[in-house]
Amino acid sequence: MSPYAHITGWGMAVPEKVLTNDELAEMVDTTDQWIRERTGIRERRIASPDQSSATLATEAALQALEVANLKPSELDLIIVSTSSPEHIFPSTACLVQDRLGAAKAGAFDLLAACTGFIYAISTASQAIRSGSVKNVLVIGAETLSRFTNWQDRNTCILFGDGAGAFVLQASETPGGVLSAVLRSDGSGADLLTLPAGGSRLPASHDTVDKGQHFIHMNGREVFRFATRVMSQTTRETVEAAQLTLDDVDLIIPHQANQRIIESAARSLDIPLERFVINVERYGNTSTASIPIATCEAIQQGRLNPGDRVVFVGFGAGLTWGAALIEWSAPFLPEKAIYPFTYRLWVRVRSYLRRLIRHIEGLIWGSKYPDI
Ligand code: UT7
Repeated sequence: MSPYAHITGWGMAVPEKVLTNDELAEMVDTTDQWIRERTGIRERRIASPDQSSATLATEAALQALEVANLKPSELDLIIVSTSSPEHIFPSTACLVQDRLGAAKAGAFDLLAACTGFIYAISTASQAIRSGSVKNVLVIGAETLSRFTNWQDRNTCILFGDGAGAFVLQASETPGGVLSAVLRSDGSGADLLTLPAGGSRLPASHDTVDKGQHFIHMNGREVFRFATRVMSQTTRETVEAAQLTLDDVDLIIPHQANQRIIESAARSLDIPLERFVINVERYGNTSTASIPIATCEAIQQGRLNPGDRVVFVGFGAGLTWGAALIEWSAPFLPEKAIYPFTYRLWVRVRSYLRRLIRHIEGLIWGSKYPDI
């Protein structure tokens, strides 16, 4: 029988720096009242120069591993969902693998914009259910502030930085990820896009002059699309697990806009109290928003083992999707990892690996060694 994929660890990391609506109102023509009424956002977090998608991802991952009591060396796979990677290549996932010292893990980035975390959970769960891997780390990490035009009031009021991580583990006990629905529609690709910097429009003076390295968005169209798909995809994922909406304890939606969440609640005829909403404090952290909201729901005692929770999101692509999870407790109760010593050890490990590569280079010059 296929093993089940349980979520056994969770963690989040957000920058310390808070950017309030009033501070934004000093930068662009907007007001705290407009932003609150149209989006529900009061403030967001902004990464400092020494923080990046990989550093936030690593912080969140270490917390998730600590909750799961799993050593990074026991990971088989690391998936980092991000639309603000450190580089086009190498993947941010590989940088995180090195920072964790996850010696046995494969690592790759996944890009499905704000829906990415749901895509990543589904991919990790399928890999576990196939029997090919046992322990998977899934991270959603963003520093979209680096791609924000701080003179564009249509977009700069929305986004914030942060990361969230889950550990998924195989078990014969039923539960964990019960169903997932993934959808896309590339005909809406132009509605939310970062035009330059890829192979279609490589970075140049011209692209920078035109601001094409920033996020561009048709807010009204994205809003309309989002309100349509949120309730529809929630229903589809619940039906895929042969359950009904009454069987769902909690809904954790992508945190883009309070009005979009309220509209989904109305069309599902589910009271807003069964939704987790924290958009007022973090803004839209894209693919990180669902795991961050999950960590807060756990801290507040709103999500407990045995509960059924739906994650639902939408974003650029266009992409949208949902996953239904029966919540689990960590498998291993006793403490097995010590983040402080681990952090120290992985730095030494990474340094030694670079040193060995350097020494090999000196010995072999530009030639490849005969192996
Ligand atoms: O993860 C997915 C990411 N994207 C989203 O989720 C975005 C979804 N869309 C939205 O959340 C909303 O469309 C926005 C919050 C972006 C905009 O709210 P809206 O109610 O759809 O406003 P609007 O674009 O229809 O603009 C209404 C008015 C316009 O003025 P006029 O043309 O009516 O005179 C805008 O120029 O509000 C103006 N406006 C602003 N005014 C003050 C737009 N942005 C601002 C602003 N401050 N920041």
